[in-house]
Amino acid sequence: MAGFAGRLARCWYSGFLRSPLQVPALGLHVGGPAMQTSQKDFNNAVSQLKLLKEDPGNEVKLKLYALYKQATEGPCNVPKPGMLDFINKTKWDAWNALGSLSKEAARQNYVDLVSKLSASSESPSPEAPAADKKQPESDSLVVTSGDGITTIRLNRPTKKNALTTQMYHDIIAALQAASKDESPITVLTGSGDYFCSGNDLTNFTSLPAGGPEEMARSSAVLLRDFVNCFIDFPKPLVAVVNGPAVGISVTILGLFDVVYATDRATFHTPFSHLGQSPEGCSSYTFPKIMGSSKAAEMLLFGKKLTAQEACAQGLVTEVFPDSTFQKEVWARLKAYSKLPPNAMRISKQIIRDREKEKLHAVNAEESNVLRERWLSDECMNAIASFLSRKSKL
Ligand code: COA
Repeated sequence: MAGFAGRLARCWYSGFLRSPLQVPALGLHVGGPAMQTSQKDFNNAVSQLKLLKEDPGNEVKLKLYALYKQATEGPCNVPKPGMLDFINKTKWDAWNALGSLSKEAARQNYVDLVSKLSASSESPSPEAPAADKKQPESDSLVVTSGDGITTIRLNRPTKKNALTTQMYHDIIAALQAASKDESPITVLTGSGDYFCSGNDLTNFTSLPAGGPEEMARSSAVLLRDFVNCFIDFPKPLVAVVNGPAVGISVTILGLFDVVYATDRATFHTPFSHLGQSPEGCSSYTFPKIMGSSKAAEMLLFGKKLTAQEACAQGLVTEVFPDSTFQKEVWARLKAYSKLPPNAMRISKQIIRDREKEKLHAVNAEESNVLRERWLSDECMNAIASFLSRKSKL
């Protein structure tokens, strides 16, 4: 439903509806045999609309209003309301935008739109959002949209959702797409028993032609770009932490708006063990969130927090029993996704804008420091040790 409304909204705002010839871009008909919609079909659609189980949202209601007026009265023929008569002006604009679309075509479009809305409101509503879109990323990342939520799911459960270089690129692309899509809320979560085990340590094993220096340089650029996407993400971003989280999957949590965790989750940043240093702006967000000494215990000594501890320290918003985690969290998110999206965006903007410059500076500095750390003996030895499975953290 939200997907449909959003597509309509996008077309609406981009002015597509100003020309009736462009109406097919919405999947609606303007000519041909389908034009034979009878007055009876139209009347049926008007009645069917009243039976919808879900409110289709203002954009769609506006579209329906315009098509109804066009179908029953023809092109807009009333004076434009004044600027301050906001609601009537918006309705007038919608009707007027249909231009000279014929009554028959408007009737057909109205019937088509109502039938799509009826079909989508009859679809079952499972715990997780209905998935009406799957983007062609690598199998390790699955992006779906439905019920007003775009879900970016790390999908490498056999490797505890460790992030490969390709996944960093795919997450950047998914966040960029989500920032422009119609879902009011975006979620990051994981498949299987882990949320994410952090950077895939084998990323360091395929050296480019430029050797370790080039590997460190390009990894630092990728890291900076990746974290920038979280800093700049313009609408509510929620982490659904379905299990233990390690490394960068913990540090970026400080950039999320809300973090829900199962009580099975743990939060671990073993940077010193790996000869590395903090990223994801955690050197700034963690002391701010939990105070400097708690942050130092995590970031310097790699103290692993339980979900309850992370919640008590403000990194996690709320912890749920694992048995009801998925059900409770998605139900709550679906309810939140019905809040006015522009209000949520603007509120996030006010909160985030004050910090953005600082966060970008921190991210740049952390990425630069890590570029050096990745070339250090401490780091190379720790990674070699993990890879040779002589020791595990
Ligand atoms: N990088 C590369 N491979 C990883 C990985 C990572 N970050 N995390 C898990 N894996 C792989 C393991 O090598 C293993 O692969 P295999 O089946 O081919 O041997 C598989 O995922 C399952 O992990 P395993 O170690 O067998 O599971 P576990 O439950 O015993 O331990 C972890 C899970 C996450 C505690 C452990 O794998 C680990 O410590 N990983 C490294 C985490 C890390 O240091 N991340 C970087 C932080 S900066």
